[in-house]
Amino acid sequence: MEQSTLMSPGQALMGMDAKDRLVEEILLLALFLVSTAANSLALLVFCRRPGLRTISNRMTTYFSRLDVQLQEELKKTAEAILASGKGILAVDETNEGIGKLLKNVGLENTENNRRRYRELLFTTPDLAEHISAVILYDETVYQKTDDGTPFIELLNKLNIIPGIKVDKDVTALFLSEDEMTTQGLDDLGKRCAAYKKQGCRFAKWRCPVKIGLNTPSVRAINDTATILARYASICQSEGLVPIVEPDVLLDGDHDIERAQKVTEVVLAAVYKALNDHHVFLEGTLLKPNMVTPGQGCTKKSTPKEIAIATRTALLRGVPAAVPGIAFLSGGQTEEEATLNLNEINKVQGKKPWILTFSYGRALQASVWQTWAGKDENLVKAQKELLKRTKANGLASLGNYEAGTAISAAGDETNYSANYKY
Ligand code: 13P
Repeated sequence: MEQSTLMSPGQALMGMDAKDRLVEEILLLALFLVSTAANSLALLVFCRRPGLRTISNRMTTYFSRLDVQLQEELKKTAEAILASGKGILAVDETNEGIGKLLKNVGLENTENNRRRYRELLFTTPDLAEHISAVILYDETVYQKTDDGTPFIELLNKLNIIPGIKVDKDVTALFLSEDEMTTQGLDDLGKRCAAYKKQGCRFAKWRCPVKIGLNTPSVRAINDTATILARYASICQSEGLVPIVEPDVLLDGDHDIERAQKVTEVVLAAVYKALNDHHVFLEGTLLKPNMVTPGQGCTKKSTPKEIAIATRTALLRGVPAAVPGIAFLSGGQTEEEATLNLNEINKVQGKKPWILTFSYGRALQASVWQTWAGKDENLVKAQKELLKRTKANGLASLGNYEAGTAISAAGDETNYSANYKY
């Protein structure tokens, strides 16, 4: 074997003149340093050219502002919904959802029966005393009272602001642990424009979030946040105030601490996304869950504990620029939802938003039970609705006295697993 093939690189170099090698290495190093410095300088000079600087700034923070008049309109609508001592009546059950309720009172799920029930609600005398806005379902937007008055016209006369549910319900989030995603973004712009033309002034979109051993997953949280942000931005582009509804569900046996942390993480993600999408926060409302232990948790919490956990989570996650928060009831009894709202408003400390209600089940359970699908019960059923709207109106000011609103189904649970609207 040749001697040279057995030599290590070090040995091979031994043959070179050591001084020459040192000079060569110093020269190479100097060349490298000079060329790096020259490159950096060239880049710096290039990037500081005025035109380029604008573009590079735009890439991260530039956006086209919402038209000032539109900002004013959205802000005014949001503030009107938050009128003192008032809240939102949510009657946006899907045809499938209301079908179950009609079945319970022995009625068929027909368009006319759905209309009759909603007419009962909207014609309740003095409804506007504690109701500032109503969330409708698609077909309700086009329905009329028996005497031919469009529901929207009736609500406007009463000074109640009509709004519309625009999400198209949930579907499974593929390859997740039983998590969901919400549909309806594709044609949302067109639908919002059509609803606005019909007289709706706000919209709502609900994204349910499940607490489980490993959920909510980061994927589900990001999905929820992005969808709500896209929805909110599309609504505002069409002049509707978006009610943003991340609903951390009551389903599960988690304790209140877990519910609080999940709520905080979800809210933080939602508001990061809303900001990323340049949503005008003053022209939005939040519709969150209250922070409660899961339905199956053996350790129950008092209204005061629920109130403190809820206020803490909101303070950590919701910007003060948001004008108001209208809670969903999520399966609580009518009385629980009222008591908890009352305590939430009584907690001492920072409170940059109006805190009120946007209840579906917790305003209607007694109405359904009393009406029972019979015309002769209509007036009594309307009185039940008024009892709850009044109690919650007082609770939105922290002035409700526990037990003073005695309603037909006040203490009955409204919870059902995987509830669908
Ligand atoms: P619940 O008060 O029944 O939870 O309804 C909330 C909701 O999102 C309806 O719009």
